[in-house]
Amino acid sequence: MSRLTALRKFVSPEIVFGPGARHSAGNFAATFGARQVLVVSDPGVLQAGWVNDVLASLDQQGIGHVLYTGVSPNPRVEEVMQGAELYRQQGCDVIVAVGGGSPMDCAKAIGIVAAHGGQPITAFEGVDTIRVPSPPLILIPTTAGTSADVSQFVIISSRAERMKFSIVSKAVVPDVSLIDPETTASMSPFLSACTGLDALVHAIEAFVSTGSGALTDLHALEAMRLIGGNLAGLVRQPGDLALREKVMRGSMQAGLAFSNAVLGAVHAMSHSLGGFLDLPHGVCNAALLEHVVAFNFRAAPERFRVVAETLGVDCRGLAGDQVRDRLLAHLIAFKRALGLQETLRLYGVSSSDIPFLSRHAMEDPCILTNPRQSTQRDVEVVYAEAL
Ligand SMILES: [Fe+2]
Repeated sequence: MSRLTALRKFVSPEIVFGPGARHSAGNFAATFGARQVLVVSDPGVLQAGWVNDVLASLDQQGIGHVLYTGVSPNPRVEEVMQGAELYRQQGCDVIVAVGGGSPMDCAKAIGIVAAHGGQPITAFEGVDTIRVPSPPLILIPTTAGTSADVSQFVIISSRAERMKFSIVSKAVVPDVSLIDPETTASMSPFLSACTGLDALVHAIEAFVSTGSGALTDLHALEAMRLIGGNLAGLVRQPGDLALREKVMRGSMQAGLAFSNAVLGAVHAMSHSLGGFLDLPHGVCNAALLEHVVAFNFRAAPERFRVVAETLGVDCRGLAGDQVRDRLLAHLIAFKRALGLQETLRLYGVSSSDIPFLSRHAMEDPCILTNPRQSTQRDVEVVYAEAL
């Protein structure tokens, strides 16, 4: 199907963007008629103080709340089920999450389980499996990367099977996303680098995805400009709120792009890797990025030329192969400027793990929109190159 004639959709939550946005959580909960809110977060975000700001805004509206912080860096099936049980026991009627991708994904999954009478979250793996609307959901991201606060994706980890699974549905787009750049100030430079690189990968994969279109391209390209132009500066100067705001907006726009255009092989392979070794998502993406771009380039050379130009690579007079080489060199240098030079071997992946990892990557929904059709053998070769 030609890109010009294909049907395209675009889904987004109501977004409030700007410093201090977190303080309006209580107002929004009140508009949903909330009486008792389940607030989902994690111990690090709680310690940073952002949760207290949100609880105070609920108190101001006279709304009750129950706090659930039992969420791991890769949220697990059991944590979702515990959170859903707490939601039921305490008679909650609205969910608010404050944190990075983990608390936000956990909150989305709690909403699904709560709406479906406590059915196991594993029953909802896949695309469009949700039959009952979730409770009202307000998400407050504290990292500039994951974009779970605007996306149609939920990623949950099953430690028993050493894999992650995806739930993709319009029903998990939150009702409200309160995007407050101030909250990213509690990230370490390493976390800023990892999450920011994840956001850049979202923008690139969405732009070259077979599901891309005019509505998502706009956001993907602006995200590449904002993140490509400001992330390394932010890692060097973590106190610069203006840079923080630009990277946060880049992350949001990358999220709007990938939520609607879906992703590609970096994410399919990264989900498989993160489920297997319980590694941070951004680290997995960083190790895979240039290897997947090298594999994909010939399937979408004109799109990748635009990616390169948008990231500031001078492509004038260059043939396709030269553009590819310049783009790969640029991505490697960009990662180095962020302090991310890890290989998979450094994290304990060995060649004997590759068949398992590749099998699961081929089952991930993100592989379907990768610009170059991939076989399991292709994926195995790319993993081997990233070792
Ligand atoms: Fe991601």
